[in-house]
Amino acid sequence: MPDPRVLLLTGKGGVGKSTLAAGTAALAAQRGLRTLVLSTDAAHSLADAYGVPVTAEPTAVADGLWVQQVDAQLRFEQSWAEVQRYLLSVLDVVGVDRVAAEELTVLPGAEEVLALLELHHQARSGRWDLLVVDCAPTAETLRLLALPEALGWYMQRIFPTQRTLLRAFKPVLGRAAGVPMPGESVLDAIERLHADLRDVRDLLTGPTASVRVVLTPERVVLAEARRSYTMLSLFGYRVDGAVANRVFPAAGADPWRAGWVEAQREVLAEAAASFEGLPLWRSEYRTAEPVGPHALAALAAEVYGADDPLAPPSGSGPYTVELGERRAEVGLALPLVARKDVALARNGDELVVTVGSYRRLLTLPAGLARMRIAGARVEDGRLRVRFEERPVERPVERPGERSAERSGERVT
Ligand SMILES: Nc1ncnc2c1ncn2[C@@H]1O[C@H](COP(=O)(O)OP(=O)(O)OP(=O)(O)O)[C@@H](O)[C@H]1O
Ligand SMILES: [Mg+2]
Repeated sequence: MPDPRVLLLTGKGGVGKSTLAAGTAALAAQRGLRTLVLSTDAAHSLADAYGVPVTAEPTAVADGLWVQQVDAQLRFEQSWAEVQRYLLSVLDVVGVDRVAAEELTVLPGAEEVLALLELHHQARSGRWDLLVVDCAPTAETLRLLALPEALGWYMQRIFPTQRTLLRAFKPVLGRAAGVPMPGESVLDAIERLHADLRDVRDLLTGPTASVRVVLTPERVVLAEARRSYTMLSLFGYRVDGAVANRVFPAAGADPWRAGWVEAQREVLAEAAASFEGLPLWRSEYRTAEPVGPHALAALAAEVYGADDPLAPPSGSGPYTVELGERRAEVGLALPLVARKDVALARNGDELVVTVGSYRRLLTLPAGLARMRIAGARVEDGRLRVRFEERPVERPVERPGERSAERSGERVT
């Protein structure tokens, strides 16, 4: 069964994410796609936009158009909280290193996990051609989208050891350290969760999924939109365009509006430059809130014009590896940053990429194990890290000395 097209809309609070998600979905449904709009946000904006009650199950809104509100159910919340508390409590026991400990601070909340699982469930149901996700504002969205990989990392690196250790030492540890000991069923549940989240990540970073950034033509909003473009790319998601919403129409403007039109024109030019190579669609500031599937579909039709709003994202994907004879190059889409904004470190078979307060641990393919980092640059919105095989003649390691490789290469 082919994966459905998945479109996520994100942006700063209040810019029009729900409006554009609802509009894009309504337009797609009018054009014959079986469409589900999912909201991960607790506010019931989709209900207000469509003018229908929205529940935790898909509810029909119009022909081919369904809407669902993902609510963190109490039962799930409790069981996840238990798992999360447990995970954190055993970190000391297994001797987590610093990078790992930092990485684990992004351990998720219940809502994020539930939203991803629901998305996974709906994507696999075969009921939909298109899933539109009305995301929460930027920071929460990034947390949501960083989660599957962070947890996957935990599962690969720590969980197996921990599981083995726990089996062996359970009776002793439980008494001595006072660490809560999970039963096999909790461990099995974590493993199942991990498998599901890996599927979600494969779907969301795959060729049928993309993220669209919604903004309004204001400087602070654009600044946040630019940051999320960078961070979404860092985490491996494909940004396929941006929508500038609440653009004042220029025609027939009085002096007050003309002032706004001029101010917006400047920011729009900057936005176009920021998202260069991608479409920047515009959505006019309406005289009233667009409500109902028809009004919203009409808004979307005007926004996208002759463009196909659901064209699959182009390009080779955010993360690439080119393996050569004795060299290799790892590429990662990283728009709107300079080399100095990016810190790089090698940690065994991982490349640790840090931008601002966000960090990604990229697992390097086995072919790179014997190579070391020879240099890195940022060019045309892409980070390129060069790897070369070590020279054959290696200086003899004196006792007590550790090679750069073993102690972890810091490139920065
Ligand atoms: N182009 C527009 N013209 C007129 N009103 C608009 C337009 N876009 C959005 N609105 C209105 O602005 C309000 C906020 O929009 P919306 O709920 O879509 O934003 P949001 O980004 O989803 O907000 P939140 O961050 O709270 O989820 C709504 O009342 C919506 O109807
Ligand atoms: Mg909203």
